[in-house]
Amino acid sequence: MTKGLKIVTIGGGSSYTPELMEGFIDRYQELPVKEFWLVDIEAGKEKLDIVGNMAKRMVKAAGIDCEVHLTLDRREALKDADFVTTQLRVGLLDARIQDERIPLSHGMIGQETNGAGGIFKALRTVPVILDIVEDMKELCPDAWLINFTNPAGMVTEAVLRYGKWDKIIGLCNIPVNAVVEEAKLLGRDTRDLFFHFAGLNHLHWHTVKDNRGNDLTAELVDVMYGQKGTDSIVANIKDNEYLLEQIKHLGMMPCPYHQYYYMTDKMLKEELADFEVNGTRAEKVKRIEHELFELYKDPALDYKPQQLAERGGARYSEAACEIINAIYNDKRRVMTVSTRNNGTITDLPDDVAVEVTCMITGAGPVPFQFGSFPPQERGLLQLMKAMELLTVEAAVTGDKGTLLQAFTMNPLILSGYAAKEVMEELLAAHKEYLPNFYRN
Ligand code: G6P
Repeated sequence: MTKGLKIVTIGGGSSYTPELMEGFIDRYQELPVKEFWLVDIEAGKEKLDIVGNMAKRMVKAAGIDCEVHLTLDRREALKDADFVTTQLRVGLLDARIQDERIPLSHGMIGQETNGAGGIFKALRTVPVILDIVEDMKELCPDAWLINFTNPAGMVTEAVLRYGKWDKIIGLCNIPVNAVVEEAKLLGRDTRDLFFHFAGLNHLHWHTVKDNRGNDLTAELVDVMYGQKGTDSIVANIKDNEYLLEQIKHLGMMPCPYHQYYYMTDKMLKEELADFEVNGTRAEKVKRIEHELFELYKDPALDYKPQQLAERGGARYSEAACEIINAIYNDKRRVMTVSTRNNGTITDLPDDVAVEVTCMITGAGPVPFQFGSFPPQERGLLQLMKAMELLTVEAAVTGDKGTLLQAFTMNPLILSGYAAKEVMEELLAAHKEYLPNFYRN
């Protein structure tokens, strides 16, 4: 008889937790989660209690043998864990509001994972995740860390490079959504298609082939962008609108986040217009969260409410629970995750984190070889990887020169005095979450 699994979720008070719970309940027969520990910090206690009690009701309604524990004591939770998932947000949504507002006030894209905002999210998050990794080394050295915390690619990079912890998988719902939605657009069954993704988190390209090896990518580009663009595959980005000539020349499908790089003027204009009416995306998310938590408070609610689909992370449980399932049961499922390159993309060094299509085995992800990109993708890929490496280094060292170098390289940040001004404003706004920059 198996002892059953212990899963620990850090940032357990997140509004996404019911997604995870639903995923584990649906898979209970093959993935017997006996202990589900939700961990949060003092500032997140109220949310942890609300969503944690909702998780308990879900388990009860499902009639499965699983204990849900709520705690603020991370170390108690981590002891002997099998899998640790991270979905925390350092500084909560208020910090994201600053990440989005400050660059926007200087006429630059303000976004959760891109541009100056994305860099600062990494600076706040990396030290906390590295701390968790240190606890894991001591308390659950055999566990896998499944990270959903953004920026997921840079967090994976930091854990591999500075945490020296190999059992990390960075995951994101974008590839999961793309597979499902694009198969629908092609009028095909996902099981008859092979989607091959390669690149970085929120900056990957992909091709799609049928089960006879026929390349359907050009057809997909036409269906998706030929008219005037379809709705985006994620709720937090409005539509997928590209210049058809350019996108056809790519030879691969872009991801929704490429709009920030390929259509910067359009994205900035839309962001500014949206800001006038709704505030930033983070402010909107705060309102959606408030509604969600009001629903979660209802003692009669014991299932995931529809409204959760308004958040960009829909199908997250598909990714998180399925990866854990694939590792635990050695299912050899094909999924796209952030992992170490190891020669998969020959345009990048072996030791960096990349987001690529892999077979998920009992020993972790085994990437499908990709090879080299043509110049139109390669240039942006290498630039962004260099930018990520500098950002992660700055997060660990607290060195402003390194940070300014990352700012200068990022295509969404105006270089020079403007870069320095935005950097200084963000450093001041996030002072309490950046101990490495304010050591004395
Ligand atoms: C997408 C991304 C996630 C991101 C989310 C933001 O799904 O893949 O990495 O966290 O959107 O959604 P939100 O509702 O917070 O704006």
